[in-house]
Amino acid sequence: MIQKASEILLKRIPFIPNAAVILGSGLGSLIKSTEALKGILVRFSDLTGFPEQTVEGHTGEMIFCEFEGKQVVLQSGRFHYYEGHPMSIVTAPMHLYAALGVKMVLHTNAAGAINPNYKVGELMIIKDHINFTGINPLLGPNNPIGPRFPDMSNVYDPTLRKQISAAASSVGMKMQEGVYIGVLGPSYETPAEINAFRNMGADAVGMSTVPEVIAAAHAGLKVAGISCLCNMGAGMLPIPLNHHEVLAAGQKAAKDFERVVRQFIRDLVV
Ligand code: HPA
Repeated sequence: MIQKASEILLKRIPFIPNAAVILGSGLGSLIKSTEALKGILVRFSDLTGFPEQTVEGHTGEMIFCEFEGKQVVLQSGRFHYYEGHPMSIVTAPMHLYAALGVKMVLHTNAAGAINPNYKVGELMIIKDHINFTGINPLLGPNNPIGPRFPDMSNVYDPTLRKQISAAASSVGMKMQEGVYIGVLGPSYETPAEINAFRNMGADAVGMSTVPEVIAAAHAGLKVAGISCLCNMGAGMLPIPLNHHEVLAAGQKAAKDFERVVRQFIRDLVV
C-alpha cells in the first residue's frame, strides 16, 4: 500500500520535502496560508489504500509547498485509532514520508494540561511521551524498515527541541516543555485518571501522536512535537470538557503556534 501510494505521490509532487508538519486539531490554519495555497494539494483519499477522513476539525490532506524558504509538506488531519482505523492506517503517513525520503516530522496536537502550572492556550514542546494507549503500532511481524526492538530513549530529537525553544524565544514567546501521555480516547479522562497520569510524570494528555511517533522513530525519521494546551485536564477546573471548546482554544492559540512553527522552519538546517 505504501509503495503504491508513494508511486502516485511521486508523479504529482514537485520535490521531496525536507520536513513534514502534521497539523493537529484547531491548528490547521497554516493550510490556508498564501504559501500553502500556491502548493500542490493531495488528499489522502487520492492515494490507494488511504481512507476518507472523518473526525471533526480534520480535512485529510497534504500540501507540498515552499514555506519559509524550505520545501515542506503540511499535513492537515490524521487518522486516529478511536475512529476505528487499524494502526497500519494511523501510521501510514509516517511510512509514506519515510518512503519518500523525508527526514523530519513535526507533530502537533491539541492536548489537555495535567501540570497545574500550565495555562490554557500555552504551547508545550514534547520532551518525551508515555504510551498509555495499551497498544503498540509495531505489533506483528517486524517491518524491515527498522529494528524489531527500536530504541525510544531520545525519540523527540534533543537538537530539534532546542531549535523549537530558540524559535519561540526569537518570536518573543515562552513555551513549556513536558511529557505527553497518549491515550486511546475518544472519551476524555476521568479526574482520577488525570491525577494518576500526573503521578506518573505526565504534563499533558492527548489522543494522537504517540502511535505515529513510535512508527516514525522506528522508520528512522527525526521527530519533534508541539502540544497546544487547549484545556485543563478533567477535574482540574469545575467545568466539563467539550470538544468544541477544545477546538476553540486551539484556534486562539493558532497565531502563536503559527509564529513559532514559521520561525522553526525558517531556521531549520536541512
Ligand atoms: N484529554 C485527551 N485529549 C485531549 C484533551 C484532553 O483533555 N484535550 C485535547 N485533546
